[in-house]
Amino acid sequence: MIRNALRAMSLAVPAIKRLSDQRDSLLREVEALKAEKASAPRQTAEMRSRTPAPSRSNDSAAIARSDVEAIVAHAIEAAKQDIRSEYTSLPRFAYHLPFDYEMQTMPPVFDEPVRVDGEPLPLPPVAERHGSTTTDQDYLDWGRYERDIILGYARDVLPSMERISIMDFGCSSGRILRHFYPEVKENQWQVTGVDVSARRIEWMRRNFPPEFQVYTGSFLPVMPFEDNTFDIIYGMSVFTHIKYLWDLWLLELRRILKPGGVLIQSVHTEHAWDYFVDHADDPAVRDSLGPMIINHKQMPADFVYYGDLDKNQVFWKKDIVVEFWGRYFDDVKVYPPPERYSYQNWVVARKP
Ligand SMILES: C[S@@+](CC[C@H](N)C(=O)[O-])C[C@H]1O[C@@H](n2cnc3c(N)ncnc32)[C@H](O)[C@@H]1O
Repeated sequence: MIRNALRAMSLAVPAIKRLSDQRDSLLREVEALKAEKASAPRQTAEMRSRTPAPSRSNDSAAIARSDVEAIVAHAIEAAKQDIRSEYTSLPRFAYHLPFDYEMQTMPPVFDEPVRVDGEPLPLPPVAERHGSTTTDQDYLDWGRYERDIILGYARDVLPSMERISIMDFGCSSGRILRHFYPEVKENQWQVTGVDVSARRIEWMRRNFPPEFQVYTGSFLPVMPFEDNTFDIIYGMSVFTHIKYLWDLWLLELRRILKPGGVLIQSVHTEHAWDYFVDHADDPAVRDSLGPMIINHKQMPADFVYYGDLDKNQVFWKKDIVVEFWGRYFDDVKVYPPPERYSYQNWVVARKP
């Protein structure tokens, strides 16, 4: 990510330099025109009568000069603004929009939260939900289904499920995390959610009770937690988009897991590749993937990192996940995608 930002900056700096050179050259031309006018031979009386007086001629040169300066200053300001919005807050990196993207930040305005009978927590309004579920019930069922999968994997690894500290890495507006509320109430679990989407985190901060510790994350692999804090760190469809620094992210998550703690993350493998190839006509698939993926019937390499700031998809072959992630974690296992909802495999690994 940093390398890309620097590369883009290094492309932008010459562009600004070019604009500035163009301004200097235009100004030189204006000066030359003025000089030409001043040294022009005396004109006939008739022509003189049509020629503006010298002071007017200077005025028009002055107007031309200020016009040129204003236009160029405007162009430079616009270019700088583009660079700022694109590369300072990286708003489009991996689908998020930190709300400090604008120069001036105001609190986000959300639609009303949705209340569903029997649900202790409000649902986010549709605009603040991750994924495209058709009904409130679907949204709830999908999150609950994945919560159960995560709990199943965690039980296989952890010696005890008492007073767990659990973190959702890339929690969005709490689609899965919300379903751990019973554990919070009944078993004193500590629940934490982190997402780089400041807007989604702000929604949770306003609508979920304070037992849900939620934080805006960073694009860089740095998390605001002590070493050995969590028993479980899970993340659905986050490492599928971490193109840059995935290894540093693994190390950071390992640091904040307790010894023996479990990492549960979904990834794209050959299976997701096949899914995308089979759905190549779907506009959403086309839009989020490059022709390379759609045109290769099989995954052509051990790993493929596709995309840039606005969209990216990361694929690893299953064996490569075990090999790569196995450098940082023990007992790395890649499970098949679940029966419903997803084409992503789950990786389960233990901190030594
Ligand atoms: C495909 S969405 C999945 C959201 C959520 N896990 C779910 O399944 O409902 C990916 C999420 O990961 C978040 N994300 C991506 N990179 C992140 C990072 N480095 N740290 C925290 N969150 C990140 C995005 O903002 C986005 O909310």
